[in-house]
This record gives sequence, C-alpha cells and structure tokens, in this order.
Amino acid sequence: MNHLHNRFQKEADKMIQDYVTSIHFDQRLYRQDIEGSIAHVKMLAKQQIIAESDAEALIKGLSLIQEEIEQGKFQFKPELEDIHMNIEARLFERIGDVAGKLHTARSRNDQIALDLRLFTKEEALKTIDELKTLQSSLVELAETNKDVIMPGYTHLQQAQPVLLAHHLLAYFEMFQRDKERFHDCLKRTDVLPLGSGALAGVSYPIDREFVARELDFSKVSTNSLDAVSDRDFIIEYEACAALTMMHLSRLAEEIILWSSAEFGFIEIGQAYTTGSSIMPQKKNPDVAELARGKTGRVYGHLMAILTAMKALPLAYNRDMQEDKEGLFDTVDTLHSTLRVFAEMIKTIKVNVKRVRGAIKRDYILATDLADYLVKKGLPFREAHGAVAKLSEYAITRDKSFHELSLSEYHSFSPLFSEDVYAITLESSLAARDIVGGTSPQQVAAALVRARKLIEEECAK
Ligand code: ARG
Repeated sequence: MNHLHNRFQKEADKMIQDYVTSIHFDQRLYRQDIEGSIAHVKMLAKQQIIAESDAEALIKGLSLIQEEIEQGKFQFKPELEDIHMNIEARLFERIGDVAGKLHTARSRNDQIALDLRLFTKEEALKTIDELKTLQSSLVELAETNKDVIMPGYTHLQQAQPVLLAHHLLAYFEMFQRDKERFHDCLKRTDVLPLGSGALAGVSYPIDREFVARELDFSKVSTNSLDAVSDRDFIIEYEACAALTMMHLSRLAEEIILWSSAEFGFIEIGQAYTTGSSIMPQKKNPDVAELARGKTGRVYGHLMAILTAMKALPLAYNRDMQEDKEGLFDTVDTLHSTLRVFAEMIKTIKVNVKRVRGAIKRDYILATDLADYLVKKGLPFREAHGAVAKLSEYAITRDKSFHELSLSEYHSFSPLFSEDVYAITLESSLAARDIVGGTSPQQVAAALVRARKLIEEECAK
C-alpha cells in the first residue's frame, strides 16, 4: 500500500515538475544571467557587502560555467526549474559554499527582469540592423529599375501610373517607421530593474548606478514593485514586431501576386521558390508565403502576453514565466524573415515589358484627362463626370483614349482640343511633381534621401 502510494506520489511530482519547469526554454538567457550576476558581484564587493576574494571566486566560477554551457558540457536539470537555479547549483559544485553569497541582495524576481531586459535590448538593436539591410535591398531594386512605369492600384484595380521605384520606396518608409518604433521601445527597455529585490527593494547598501553602468543601462528603475512585475518592454517589442511582420506580409503578398503568371511582373531567385511534386512547370513563392503565414503567430504571441498580464495583481506572479517562449519565437521569426527577405529581394528580376504592358490601354490616364479639363476651367466634379462618360464610351468601343477623334472628345466636352493627345503615361508621372509624388524628379530625390538615411544610420 505504502509502496503504491509512493509510486503515485513520484509520478505526481514528476508531472508537477514538468509543468512548472522553464529550463528547456530559459536556458537561452544564460549569457545575460551570468553577465548580470557578474556585475552584481562586482558591486557587492565594491560596497563591501561581500569580500573581494569571495567576489573573485564567484566571478571565476561564473565564467567557468559560461564556458561549460558554450562548450555544450553543462547539464541542465529540469528539477532545478530555471536558468538561475541551474547556474547557482552548478556554482556550488564548482566553487563550494562561497557560491551561497551570489544571491545576496537579490531575488529571482529582479534577476529575471534584468535578464529579459538585457535580452530584449540586444534583440531590438539586431532587429534595427536587419531592417536597415532590408531597406538597402529595396533601394537597390528601386535604383536598378528607376525608369520602370507600372500601373498603380487601388482596390487592386488599375488606378494611375506610378514608378515601380515609388512603389518599392513605399515599403522603405514602412520599415523606416518600424525602426523608429524599435528605437522607441529600446528607450523604455533600457532601464535597470536589479536592486528591486523580490518586490520591496533590498536592505543592503547596494549601488544600483554602478550596476547600471556595468551593464550599459542608461537609467535605474524607480519603483521596485513596478520593476519586478513590468513586462511592458516585451509587449512593446512584440507589438513592434507584429507591425513589422504586417508590413513584411504585405510585401510578401505583392511578391506572390507579381510572380504569378497573370501578373508576371517579377521573377524571384530559384532558391526562394520550390517546385510542385506533381506539376513540373511550377515555381511556388514559398518563402514569401511562409512570411505571410508566420505573421499570424507573431500576432498570436502579442495577444498571449497581453492576455497573460491583464489581471495580474502586483507584484511578481508565476504567470509571467509565460512571457519567454512567445518572446523568443517572435524574435526568431522576425529575424529570420527580415534576413531572408533582404536576400530574396536582391534576386528579384523585373520583367519591364510585362510591367509596362500590364497597363490596359490608356484608361489609367482618366484622372489626367479630368485634370486637363479642370485646367481649362471646368470644376473638378464636372470634369470627373465628363471623363467618366468618355471612359465608358471608349471602353465599350474597345478604343483607347488616343484612338478617339477630337470630335468624339467634343461630344463629352467642348473644352477638349488637340493638346489632349499630349497626355501620356510620362506626362502623367511628370505632372505629379510634388513632395511625395511619383514624378521621376521626386522619386530620384527620394532615392537619394533613402540612401543617405541608411548611410548616416550605419555611420552612427
Ligand atoms: N522562472 C521564473 C520566471 O521566468 C523566474 C522568476 C521566478 N521567481 C519566483 N519567485 N518563482 O518567471
């Protein structure tokens, strides 16, 4: 009976251990955890909270453990729950009882907050760099094709002619805003939580500013309860990531559309496509499709953390252990998507003939015809009405505007004269010579600005 009871208890213990342990994912924070511990130990010695010789032993032991981990020799133990306990337990094995001094004036609550902030800072900086690289690829593609005219769309219906470069630079702008958002997220992540203890602060004469300098934080947190229970910085990173993925997904969608037989605007490098197992003619844009698909999981992580945090009383609660996997997966998904896109875009070949040829007749110049009448004195709404009728007339007769005779034009407005034939795709573009417009001069200037921006940012 007793024997049976013990067995059940053991199974239950194992089940509970599997449920609460986080070492299989938080081991990823080992570097930040050790870096934070070393800074903490240095401070403890400087403040004479522990002896200098103890600090030396602790730092040496921590460095040895880091080596063990990096050489794959460290044995992570689920029964020790998390990365903090795993490292501390190993420290006892390596340096003996002095290991017990490491956790003076500290709690796992401010420790994990620190690890996560160090991690998020690094990853945000990496993300910004990757966004820059992607922007360079876009600028390059735009420069290579800077004279290519394409149909601009609204509702995926041909609307007005634009330069392909203008279209690509629209994405440059999106990624520029994304970078700004990550920079902004960095400002609030760049705060040292260590020294908050479990929740109320610590009772030792610690020097938080010193630790902040050691770890390159520009501020220290000013409320201990907040510092141990705040995960806003993770939410912000994930929100920024969700937005960036949304932009990447829109770009992915256009790459998918444009490489279809119907559009035929572009060809992506073979490596970024896969063939079908039964249809030999196919080149599927899988990389772009996966990026579009992965956007969903990044949104999911954002929703998960927001939901996990929404009803937590102050201060730390174990619920917060759930912050990590979503953050790690967000970071990995975003990094890999940004990297693969930057490379994929370099392989894009534009089929100039197809892009220009996609402009069906010259109906795309209807706005320019209306603008023409406005310049001759007609109020815009009336001009719009006249050209709407003219378009219908031309379309039903399967004639382009250029094929209409002047007398046909006249039946829609007496203001039309010979110079209406001077309206072309080129004149339409040139007319939009306004900041943000698609005229060749404006786009050339935008390309220069974009290049300069990236170069300046890289020089910083
Ligand atoms: N593994 C924990 C987490 O990720 C670390 C903090 C644990 N603190 C505690 N009081 N149990 O949230």
